Amino acid sequence: MQQPIAVLDSGVGGLTVVKEVMRQLPREKILYFGDTARTPYGPRGAEEVVAFTREIVDYLIRYNPKMIVIACNTATAAALEDIRGRVALPVIGVISPGARAAVSRTATGVVGVIGTEGTINSGAYDAALKRLCPDIEVISRACPSFVPLVEDGNFHSMETLLTVVEALLPLNRSPMDCLILGCTHYPFLAECISLAMGPDVALINSAEETARDIRAVLEENGKLEGEDGAAPVHRFVCSGDPQKFLEIAQAWLGEPVLVTSALGPIP
Ligand code: SIN
Repeated sequence: MQQPIAVLDSGVGGLTVVKEVMRQLPREKILYFGDTARTPYGPRGAEEVVAFTREIVDYLIRYNPKMIVIACNTATAAALEDIRGRVALPVIGVISPGARAAVSRTATGVVGVIGTEGTINSGAYDAALKRLCPDIEVISRACPSFVPLVEDGNFHSMETLLTVVEALLPLNRSPMDCLILGCTHYPFLAECISLAMGPDVALINSAEETARDIRAVLEENGKLEGEDGAAPVHRFVCSGDPQKFLEIAQAWLGEPVLVTSALGPIP
């Protein structure tokens, strides 16, 4: 039985990481958990986010994954170290990969970060960026209105564009040349964010870099699937409405997906 890579998020946002894993590592089987019944995590306290993340990891562990990917910035900021201390498996988050991608991209040394209140208030991006490049200037902004738009599947409407433009207006006057999408939900809104920020600001999506980290971890542990294996059957589990999750997942991933609801057994 092929061991899956377990990926978790507060909702559909981690699908942005899944899409990149499918592209870079097409032989890897994915087991995804989206906590759509309790999304968003951004306004919740760190203790609650840690408790939810532990609960989901305990669930995913039952399916014998080869590693765990916390594909949620809020949960990475609050719970990455806690989970690493609890499970005997490699566990990676999405903040270090995003910071790395931004540092290698910026020419001006001024980087913007947008995320949930939880992520921005944790200071995790500032710390990760300054660890890599002590002189970097970081301009952060919490955008709490974005996750609910994504969970509603509302990616391109005029309402979404206006919300995004208004939220990002204060960043427009900064001399940044790249903006980290510090929430895995935000790549769904990339078109609107790009319109709001203009062509001189590169959007940094941590998914690509995270998928590279996943490959490195699997190689290091001798767990990377061979090129000649059969195409994997992925599993998606959500704690909320499976139909809504299915529609967003299929539209984003461009292929049919199998969705199970809640914490019930995976067929
Ligand atoms: C949230 O649930 O509020 C957002 C998830 C993330 O931070 O990536």
